[in-house]
Amino acid sequence: MRPRIQEVADELLDAMAPHGHADLVESLALPLPTTVICDLLGVPAEDREQFCGWSAQIVTAPSVEAGAAAGEALTGYLSDLVDAKPHRDAGGDLLSALARTADDDGDRLAPDELLGMAFLLLFSGHETAINLISNGAYALLRHPDQLAALRAGWTLLDGALEEMLRYEGPVKECTLRFAAEPVDIADVTIPAGERVLLVLAAGSRDPRRFAEPDRFDIRRDARGHLGLGHGIHHCLGAPLGRLEAAIALRALFERCTDITLDTDPADLAWRPSSWLRGLARLPVRYTPFS
Ligand code: HEM
Repeated sequence: MRPRIQEVADELLDAMAPHGHADLVESLALPLPTTVICDLLGVPAEDREQFCGWSAQIVTAPSVEAGAAAGEALTGYLSDLVDAKPHRDAGGDLLSALARTADDDGDRLAPDELLGMAFLLLFSGHETAINLISNGAYALLRHPDQLAALRAGWTLLDGALEEMLRYEGPVKECTLRFAAEPVDIADVTIPAGERVLLVLAAGSRDPRRFAEPDRFDIRRDARGHLGLGHGIHHCLGAPLGRLEAAIALRALFERCTDITLDTDPADLAWRPSSWLRGLARLPVRYTPFS
């Protein structure tokens, strides 16, 4: 998907170029992963905005009822999309492929399984990558020396992405786990069957694992961070998420050579969510570029 992601990034930057100022979330971090995941799954372009609206409401819903209503609306939409898939001949997308695929015994994904898969991929596939691009850009803008080092040697980019995932990872908490047997941790026994909420963001800043964990350092060895989860549920879309952020950040900082924050960091608002970590807006200023 590299050429398509590059094309989308270039188009978004072309649109930003003449203005001299922008909200990076709205101009780049949000539309890039949304377009990519919708392309991948076969969500028609004209439905993207509506889809994004539901998705954002699920993440930042002011009440449980509002979140559930957005979830239902998105599920209803996906259900219609999934129903239509097996009958479409175009079908080069992932949902069509999943709808057609049967295993050796002829077993197919049941409609509700396909729907669950569509929901999981659409939702987890873009809400996270938005935050990696915007949190990553923000960290670099606040550390101009490290941004300069990156511009001077893009071989640092892979390591920088791992540090972004560690330092300000897009996902703070993982989905609920259940203790299969009693577990002793820090003088507490978690009984079998009890729910456990693991805070990935805390693990990624554990001082026993990372020296000076609150320092952003693109040259550190950030391996072992929990930004993409751990174990059997480790992120399925990790290569895609990393690729999107790598392309977006490199294209942005290569073309936009004097970009700076256009606000006091103290005034920046983070999206109200207990499990995702992402900026609501990221205002920047730059000399118009080509
Ligand atoms: C860079 C951005 C991304 C980050 C930071 C991220 C983070 C995570 C994390 C922390 C988990 C583990 C959740 C848990 O243990 O409860 C996870 C799982 C998952 N992610 Fe991602 N993700 C990203 C991008 C993507 C993309 C682009 C896709 C889809 C194309 C995706 C699909 C999934 C799926 C399907 C799972 C569930 C895997 C399982 O339970 O076996 N993610 N992700």
